[in-house]
Amino acid sequence: MSRNITFSMIKPCAISRNFTGDIIQSILDDGFKIIAMKMVWLSPEQAGEFYEIHKERPFYEDLVKFMSSAPIIAAILEKENAVEDFRILIGNTDPAKAASGTIRALFGTDIQQNAIHGSDSDENASREANFFFSSLEIYH
Ligand code: GTP
Ligand code: MG
Repeated sequence: MSRNITFSMIKPCAISRNFTGDIIQSILDDGFKIIAMKMVWLSPEQAGEFYEIHKERPFYEDLVKFMSSAPIIAAILEKENAVEDFRILIGNTDPAKAASGTIRALFGTDIQQNAIHGSDSDENASREANFFFSSLEIYH
């Protein structure tokens, strides 16, 4: 498997609880290379566009409100098998169901405030990375 990328966001709940450093360390310890990173405060419109795929879900409005309530830290991460490996590192969407030692088990609060986002496919990783970063901000 060649090296590829995934896209991640550290969510407002984890930043406000001072878990940013621990989360970045665990990403590096798992062998990911950070090739882009920045702090961004999304407007409700931008958060709504990012999560457009969930528009019909009952939690969409709450999710958009939460993700635009304070800044997030966006990053592009490079590794072999990046998308799948990162989903394993972060764990189940619901921190209560996430395997012990995963980022969501360690730093998540509940199913919405679950500390971190990870892309679910190579296609979405590219879309999400391009949503936040220009080619000038990515360092392979
Ligand atoms: P992401 O990596 O953030 O995309 O999470 P995911 O792929 O594990 O879950 P999904 O894409 O299905 O949902 C996106 C986000 O919506 C989740 O990370 C949660 O923050 C939120 N979410 C998902 N399911 C629920 C739910 O049942 N209730 C609430 N309140 N929020 C949810
Ligand atoms: Mg998802």
